[in-house]
Amino acid sequence: MVVLDQDSQYVKSVYLKRDLIPSFHHFPFNLPVLQNFHEVMFHPNVTYFIGENGMGKSTLLEGIAIAFGFNPEGGTLNFNFSSFDSHSDLDEYLRLVKGVNRAKDHFFFRAETFYNVATNIENLDKEPGPGPRIIDSFGGKSLHEQSHGESFFAAFIERFQGNGLYILDEPEAALSPLRQMSMLARINELVNQGSQFIISTHSPILMAYPNAKIIQLTENGISESTLEETQHYSIMKQFFDNKDRMLHHLFQEIKE
Ligand SMILES: Nc1ncnc2c1ncn2[C@@H]1O[C@H](COP(=O)(O)OP(=O)(O)O)[C@@H](O)[C@H]1O
Ligand SMILES: [Mg+2]
Repeated sequence: MVVLDQDSQYVKSVYLKRDLIPSFHHFPFNLPVLQNFHEVMFHPNVTYFIGENGMGKSTLLEGIAIAFGFNPEGGTLNFNFSSFDSHSDLDEYLRLVKGVNRAKDHFFFRAETFYNVATNIENLDKEPGPGPRIIDSFGGKSLHEQSHGESFFAAFIERFQGNGLYILDEPEAALSPLRQMSMLARINELVNQGSQFIISTHSPILMAYPNAKIIQLTENGISESTLEETQHYSIMKQFFDNKDRMLHHLFQEIKE
C-alpha cells in the first residue's frame, strides 16, 4: 500500500470557469470563496477548507462532489436519492483535474444530511436482494439507533476502506474531542492505504494532520494557511490561555 503523491493522487485540482459565470452578484457566485478563486491545487493526502460560517465551504464541497459524480446529499457514488433538490449549479462551472489513478472507494460525507443517507440505507436494505446488506459495511447496527456521533464514527471507521477519495463536510460535528483525535488516527491509516481527503472543518484538532494543505476562506477570498495561523486555532488558544479575561470581555460586550 502506498501513500499518494502528486503523480498518483486521484484529484489534482479544481478549476473555476470564471469566463462562463454570468454574474458574481448572485448566489452561488457571490460567495466570498469564489472572489479570487481560479484554480486550487489539492494536496495528495489531505486538503482542508476552513473559515467562518457562511463563507461557502459547504457549497464549494458540494460543487466539487457533484462534479465528481456524487449525490448532492452524500453517500457513495451509487447513492442517487434526493430528499430535497436544493443544490446550487456551481458544479457546472467547476472543472476537476483528475489523476491517472482511480480511487476504489468513494464517500461524500455531509454532517447536515447524513440522517437522509441513513434513511436511504434502511430503505435499500428493506428491498429483497442477493448481496449483503449495505448497513453491514457500516458495522451492522442501524445508524438511526446510534447517537449522531456514534453513527458518524461508524461510517469513518467501518465503511471507509482505503484507496479512497473521501470528501467530508464538517465531519467533527457530534464527535467528542477524543473521537476527533481517533478520527485523525483513522485519517492517517487511510492515507497510508492510498486515500485522499478533502475536508471542511471548524475543528483545530481535525485540521492538525501534518501532510496537508489548509485553505482558509475569508471575506477577501481564499489563501493558504498554517494551522497556527488559522483563526480557529488562535481563537481557541486565546480563549483557554486567558479564559477569565476573554469571558470578562465577552460579557461586557453583551451588556453594552
Ligand atoms: N440556495 C441558496 N440561495 C441563496 N443563498 C444560499 C443558498 N444556499 C446557501 N446560501 C447562502 O450561502 C452562504 C454560504 O453557505 P455555505 O456554503 O453553507 O457556507 P459554510 O459551509 O461556509 O458555512 C450562506 O450565507 C447561505 O445563506
Ligand atoms: Mg457548511
